[in-house]
Amino acid sequence: MTELAATSSRLTIDYRNATAGAVGEEHGVSPAMLAEVASKVREEHARIAAEHAAGGQRWMNLPDDLALADEIAAFAEQARSRYQDYLLIGIGGSSLGAIATIAALADPYRNLLPDDRRGGPRFFVLDNPDPEKVRATLEVVDLEHTLVNVVTKSGQTAETMANFLVARQALEAVVGKQRASEQIVATTDPKEGLLRKLADEEGYRTFPVPPGVDGRQTVLSAVGMLPAALCGVDIHGLLRGAAAMRERCRGDDVLTNPAYLLAAIAVLADTRLGKSMLVTMPYADALYGVADWFRQLWAESLGKRLSVSGEEVFAGQTPIKALGAIDQHSQIQLYTEGPNDKLIALVAVERCRARVEIGGTPAGTPELAYLQGAELGQLLDRERLATAWALTEARRPNLTIAAPEIDAAVVGELFFLHQLQTVMAGALYGVNPFGQPGVEAGKNATYALMGREGYEGLRDDLLAEPEGGSHFTLVPV
Ligand code: PA5
Repeated sequence: MTELAATSSRLTIDYRNATAGAVGEEHGVSPAMLAEVASKVREEHARIAAEHAAGGQRWMNLPDDLALADEIAAFAEQARSRYQDYLLIGIGGSSLGAIATIAALADPYRNLLPDDRRGGPRFFVLDNPDPEKVRATLEVVDLEHTLVNVVTKSGQTAETMANFLVARQALEAVVGKQRASEQIVATTDPKEGLLRKLADEEGYRTFPVPPGVDGRQTVLSAVGMLPAALCGVDIHGLLRGAAAMRERCRGDDVLTNPAYLLAAIAVLADTRLGKSMLVTMPYADALYGVADWFRQLWAESLGKRLSVSGEEVFAGQTPIKALGAIDQHSQIQLYTEGPNDKLIALVAVERCRARVEIGGTPAGTPELAYLQGAELGQLLDRERLATAWALTEARRPNLTIAAPEIDAAVVGELFFLHQLQTVMAGALYGVNPFGQPGVEAGKNATYALMGREGYEGLRDDLLAEPEGGSHFTLVPV
């Protein structure tokens, strides 16, 4: 089995612009506020550690499953030379982590590269059951040489199963039933669910979604790692980075544990300073997917009606993703001059993987001379600094998470950091960050409206005519 060489955490966090000293008492977190929350953080840390020791908080163990990583890497190596296209079918936690990882670590135009430079199949995702996108995707992939990977923890999510049934039928029409079964890989619960049953009946190769881990925490399991490995990502590096961040987060001190610090700042900003929105704004196109992944994690984990003791609390902070520098020309006007209701987390990258110098400024346009000889990465990073300055001047709390560069270990670190941050934020809000009753309610209503057996009662309730007429008009299917 691969042994992971020890690596150290390389992310840094600068939260000075989120403090009262920088943006004023009314908008910034003060040392007194952090001191007040410190003992709660220590208590919750002890609880989380005890739960982990007793077999709970299983998402924390994912970086240790090197046997699975080796199995995935071996499968991916073979599949990469065998398939021209790779179709991932999944939604929410079953696709966002993979999309984020591949966007961060593969060439941005990977699908357009010639075969010998791409190193593996082209990558397509069917998440939304949007007929236009689904049809277009199935027309563009070479089904004869396509690996279909259906990913669903529950094994029954309507969007995923619908897209899968459509893709499976298209695949069977081209390669026949037997070969189709060989070209399908199911990532699902090891024992339960409709997809597990179908996979067993039809003989699909399967990979496990780890039991006891919510979908949005599965990025470091087969859910995220299989797609990443198929696209040439160093999955052992991802795990190494996550393990390094886990090591760094062993302590219970809110000021030195980066996950707890980020959680405390965000929750204090929301509950004490009225910052009901949390913007994540990387200054790197490659990290926009990580911001999108985090958006789901923060929203689904913390947006809860009930506290752990059963009181109605309607907790949560609305996560927003933005991209620097593009959103300086879209959102920043609102962030600097609109309602002061946001905490803004900028993400900096010190060294870009490409160096592009600006040259050839026309002699007749001296106004552009300031760009001559500069480098695009330097411009992008100065824009980040300029934004941090402008936000701080406008008394808008902001902080910066900085990575030396983007590589697999750094992305793994970000995944672990944000997951632990979210678990601690749940503790500080007093809600359970696991489970997603609001999502399940919507799923059940969809089953009912689509006529699934066993959901008749719910369907009747949904379609019952309230005073003043029905809420719903059903399009016949
Ligand atoms: O985080 C979660 O648990 C959800 O977002 C799920 O990932 C999403 O609803 C898809 O569920 P499933 O993997 O069961 O298809």
